[in-house]
Amino acid sequence: MASNKILVIGSSNTDLIAKTKRIPAAGETVEGKQYLQAMGGKGANQALAAHKLGGDVKFITSLGNDTNGKKTLKYYKKIGLDVGSSLIVKDIPSGTAMIWVDDNGENRIIINPGANKELSSEYMLSKKEEIVNSDVVLLQMEIPYDTVKTICEMASVAGKKVILNVAPAYKIDYEIIQNIDVLIVNETEAELISGKKINIVGAEGVINCLLELGVKSVVLTLGKNGCIMKDKDRRQIIVPAFDVKAIDTTAAGDTFCGGLVAELSRGHDWKRALNFASAASAICVTQMGAQPSIPSEVEVEYFLKDSCKYQN
Ligand code: RIB
Repeated sequence: MASNKILVIGSSNTDLIAKTKRIPAAGETVEGKQYLQAMGGKGANQALAAHKLGGDVKFITSLGNDTNGKKTLKYYKKIGLDVGSSLIVKDIPSGTAMIWVDDNGENRIIINPGANKELSSEYMLSKKEEIVNSDVVLLQMEIPYDTVKTICEMASVAGKKVILNVAPAYKIDYEIIQNIDVLIVNETEAELISGKKINIVGAEGVINCLLELGVKSVVLTLGKNGCIMKDKDRRQIIVPAFDVKAIDTTAAGDTFCGGLVAELSRGHDWKRALNFASAASAICVTQMGAQPSIPSEVEVEYFLKDSCKYQN
């Protein structure tokens, strides 16, 4: 079966990552254990993940005409990720992210959006044919909210499948929700949008609330507790997480999204796609950095075969 065309629209950053035994308190200086500079940004990570995991991907982003921007464009072109419709802005730096990773692999991130903020609704309206020529549109929340709203509307009117990963967490409104086919959220994001607490109404209660708001399918990721997909027809699939030692959880969610979209767009069913995405995400957390830790399709297939051996 031919793969559906995936269009990812979103941010690009250069990540400056420091691994440290513990996160410093206010006014404190601590020594880092490792430093890494790598490409990142939720949009770029998801586009790269979907591309490496076998999807037919185009990526629209916004970069400054600076060293980081030029390097980023050159790299994506080299690895065969189509970024030809991206916006290049003058006099505004490309996005950067400062990432602290502690010994448990947990991160804290500050993003400086720079050029990502310039990806406007007007620009996307001028790229309508890219949406029309795609089958699936995948978005996150590191570009302006109004742009996300415009893209969701354009894609929905054009009959495309709209997948929104609401990261970083944002209280999206009904104008966006009504145009979403698949909402991918973690616990924090789900609670913010639904206004309900998981420890009070349970994961299913929060998912039901999101479905009642008008989303067609919800994927709730629960970290070590796996993920749940539930759709408006009340079909529910629960997939456990793979047990791995986390070195750095940065881009775990992005890898999950990219893997899920790649596998669904090859025509695989939800159960298989969720399992594939979880495996890709599990591999991702075993290495440092966002993009350096995103596995290939072959690596995920090996990992899945191996984990089957241990389960039997
Ligand atoms: O999701 C991880 C990403 O968040 C990092 O690559 C960083 O750039 C921030 O956007």
